[in-house]
Amino acid sequence: MDLKLKDKVVVVTGAAGIKGSIGETIVQALANEGAIPVIVDRNARGFEYAEALQQKGINSIFVQTDLSKVDQIEAAAKVINDTYGKVDVLINNVGVNDGAGLDSSMEEFINSIRLNMVSFFAMTKYLLPLLKNSKGNILNIASKVALTGQGGTSGYAAAKGGVLGLTREWAVDLIKYGIRSNAIVIAESWTPAYKNWIDTLENGEEKLKSIVKKIPLENRMTTPEEVANQCLFTISEVSSHTTGQFITVDGGYVHLDRALLTE
Ligand SMILES: NC(=O)c1ccc[n+]([C@@H]2O[C@H](COP(=O)([O-])OP(=O)(O)OC[C@H]3O[C@@H](n4cnc5c(N)ncnc54)[C@H](O)[C@@H]3O)[C@@H](O)[C@H]2O)c1
Repeated sequence: MDLKLKDKVVVVTGAAGIKGSIGETIVQALANEGAIPVIVDRNARGFEYAEALQQKGINSIFVQTDLSKVDQIEAAAKVINDTYGKVDVLINNVGVNDGAGLDSSMEEFINSIRLNMVSFFAMTKYLLPLLKNSKGNILNIASKVALTGQGGTSGYAAAKGGVLGLTREWAVDLIKYGIRSNAIVIAESWTPAYKNWIDTLENGEEKLKSIVKKIPLENRMTTPEEVANQCLFTISEVSSHTTGQFITVDGGYVHLDRALLTE
């Protein structure tokens, strides 16, 4: 199946994580399809990623940006416009489950919302003229935490809930321009950030085993490649009549019958 992503300018936020993170995996998958990935992140690793792609003959840039700062997001949108003059797809992927809970300060809570949700609004707002020109689409990366809660992470939970709300709001708002807006909901995907979290726990290995055996499909974590594949399918023209959807990529973890749980 030809996803027709060749030469599409696809902006991915939070895409300079360690190899194997969701954003980095999406960028590699885009490059394999001949798309033009625009890496937006604050980590200087993005320079290496863009350079490595350029060396393979793939058109790509890195726009170093602190996504918790709206003025930097506005400046990033300008750089993208000046470089390519078009954007076909925006993937809002940045997100940190930062544990800003009820015991945290107001500032920590607000900072969490700023990175995990306000950045989605700002990036979309500043790239909207380009998305309108290209009749492009928006994909937001959400989390099961918005649907199930997690405990101890009010900021992230509220932000990811807001991300789902914005996904549907923008699907309605932008329908007049033919712009689609969807969300990918992830539950348990084995990324470096996930491993870091497991490593902070006293009984990390046991916790991991107890999670994995509750994932109905094959009792295993979702791979970042499986998430990336679903992202590419959803942003592509092949999904041209899909909008306002929350697409869960989690091996049935959130929605399937609990009778499936293994002992
Ligand atoms: N891994 C999972 O199981 C899982 C589950 C649910 C949702 N998600 C979501 O998937 C997305 C990617 O997660 P991941 O596991 O790859 O995590 P990750 O930590 O590897 O990715 C986060 C990226 O955001 C960047 N970043 C952090 N703060 C930033 C800032 N202020 N400005 C710019 N960039 C910043 C980091 O450099 C990194 O590249 C996130 O939205 C996350 O909430 C992941």
